[in-house]
Amino acid sequence: MHPHTPLIPRRARRRVVAALSAAFLCTAGMTALPAAARTGDTGAAPATTPAGTAASAAPRLPDGLARTPPMGFNNWNSTHCGADFNEAMIKGIADLFVEKGLKAAGYEYVNLDDCWAQKDRDANGKLVPDTTRFPNGIKAVADYVHSKGLKLGIYTSAGTTTCARAMPGALGHEYSDARQFADWGVDYLKYDNCNNQGVDAKQRYTTMRDALKATGRPIVYSICEWGENKPWEWAADVGHLWRTTGDIGDVWDSAVGIFKENAPLAKYAGPGHWNDPDMLEVGNGGMTDTEYRSHFSLWSMMAAPLLIGTDLRKASRATYDILGNREVIGLDQDPLGKQAEVLKSDGGRWVLSKPLADGDRAVALFNESDRPQRIATTAKEAGLPQASGYRLRDLWKHEDTHTAGEIAATVPAHGTLVYRVSPDRRWAHYPPAVETGADGIEPIEVGAEARVATLTRNLGRTPAFDVKVSLKGPQGWRVEPVTSTGSPALPPDKELVTAWKIAPLAGTKPGAYELALTTDYRSARGQQVTQTLPLPVFAVQAPPAGTSYASDLTWITATNGYGPVERDMSVGGPRAGDGTPLRIGGVTYPKGLGAHAPSEITYYTGNKCSAFSAQVGVDDETGDQGSVSFEVWADGQRVAESGKLTGKDPAKAVSASVAGARTVRLVVQDVGDGYQYDHGDWADAKFSC
Ligand code: GLA
Repeated sequence: MHPHTPLIPRRARRRVVAALSAAFLCTAGMTALPAAARTGDTGAAPATTPAGTAASAAPRLPDGLARTPPMGFNNWNSTHCGADFNEAMIKGIADLFVEKGLKAAGYEYVNLDDCWAQKDRDANGKLVPDTTRFPNGIKAVADYVHSKGLKLGIYTSAGTTTCARAMPGALGHEYSDARQFADWGVDYLKYDNCNNQGVDAKQRYTTMRDALKATGRPIVYSICEWGENKPWEWAADVGHLWRTTGDIGDVWDSAVGIFKENAPLAKYAGPGHWNDPDMLEVGNGGMTDTEYRSHFSLWSMMAAPLLIGTDLRKASRATYDILGNREVIGLDQDPLGKQAEVLKSDGGRWVLSKPLADGDRAVALFNESDRPQRIATTAKEAGLPQASGYRLRDLWKHEDTHTAGEIAATVPAHGTLVYRVSPDRRWAHYPPAVETGADGIEPIEVGAEARVATLTRNLGRTPAFDVKVSLKGPQGWRVEPVTSTGSPALPPDKELVTAWKIAPLAGTKPGAYELALTTDYRSARGQQVTQTLPLPVFAVQAPPAGTSYASDLTWITATNGYGPVERDMSVGGPRAGDGTPLRIGGVTYPKGLGAHAPSEITYYTGNKCSAFSAQVGVDDETGDQGSVSFEVWADGQRVAESGKLTGKDPAKAVSASVAGARTVRLVVQDVGDGYQYDHGDWADAKFSC
């Protein structure tokens, strides 16, 4: 059974508070206050504060910690409680932070998540590190990490046991556990929410804050109650950061969903108190590099903690390039500490703007959709003062251009462009920004020819000289311009529209292909600029005459709430091919599609098919859980719907006329109770053509 998220289901919380209050006693000895704590803005708790009275006497945050969002590593997203989580890993990560320049880029905390301790406390109520994972104890790991000039983080839960139920939680043991962490040299605590016995969240998290304070050691305090009690409203003087959402998963929909929940909370973030949309998945393999760049860009725009969640010992060059992009990190770590505001969002096109300490603005153009889209804003809209020109620095390409004010680009599917925009009297030093792109390209039928228009526009204040546009298709495709492909001088604010004829090579298999649109030009100062934009295009073919199973045909696009859509098996887990035989209400189907709400699968039918039919329902692999509805769309019209079906229902027959349609879209919707367990099967799905 594979629920969508979280990996560990939240346990029901019982309202049992009795007998906890008496437990907040601390017998640990007192230590001298470290220098860093003495220099905190408000003055830390005197080291002699009796811990038992700290709840009322302890000073509030801010204490000078986490003035910028914490950066570092946490093992959870890559290992969970697996065997790879051990001393060798933590030391290896610390080594790589130094060797690969990540420490120099700002990454500092190396954090242990759940499962670092044994299931039971010792006779004195102390936590005992897992001897297989950490045979030399936690202090030895902390010493090693400190010897590299880095800091160590640890994890426990504000409950009786942690979320994996693998080790004891700190509820009722706050002062003793905090003391133990401080004695080991811990610099950061992530404090989770599982098994909390229904005790008030504010009380639980404040008690640990005071217990940490009472140790006298500066410890960054990360509240992890998943946004359940709106910590942004009360935790600014409790923790340095607070999770705003449930757990992230290594899938695009998860990252985007979390972005959407966290973005509206911008006003609550600031130095020493940050919104935490959860740790990074960059490098874990469930998203494309374009998607990981978007994830990293959006998290940096949102001034989120940047906690690397991949095992760097196995990371690719591309992963290091993303995580090590210092210009993007610079936005996250900007000392003004403002989270980006969403300026606008419409049709999957998002514009975000983040004010920066030096008066610049970071502007992100984020394309949530699965086709390239033009996204546009202006320097004025982004909040910049009036200026004769602006420097536009592309923080992924590391290149400068200038604009008279417009900021516009065709952004690839799931891509994000991030600019640092500065009012700059020296704007003429940079070449004019020239945007280039094409409106969505319609699917092209194999054997037919399509027309496409590309647009090239000068956004700068000086002409772009010797402008040349070229469009290249896959080997053997015919791509020919119908109108002009260049201009000796493209003046400011002027555009060049080029029409093209495109024909796939005879015999091309239906599927996704790529065109490359390249624009070359020269600035008045002689700077040569070349930019290339990939444009996806689908070669399509209507199904053959007769009856065809949907799972034997090539679809144009497929989106899915969890993992990829599967052929002839259920959706299963997050990876391709990990489903089980399609089974609804005890009946097994050899053919069909395994989807997960929200899902959309689009087929090209080219006016050649008459009907679609399927047996639909929630796959038996969810137990009795999940609830979805199925819809069939012929072009823009809904031609069939199943109504609500749950994990308890048998399969329902759905059939629809699709006569005359160029495309047929199969949609699985979450019916409003969240999309966990929504494994929707299109069993026995077939087209009559
Ligand atoms: C919860 C947290 C995760 C992780 C796990 C560990 O789900 O939200 O980030 O710490 O617990 O069990």
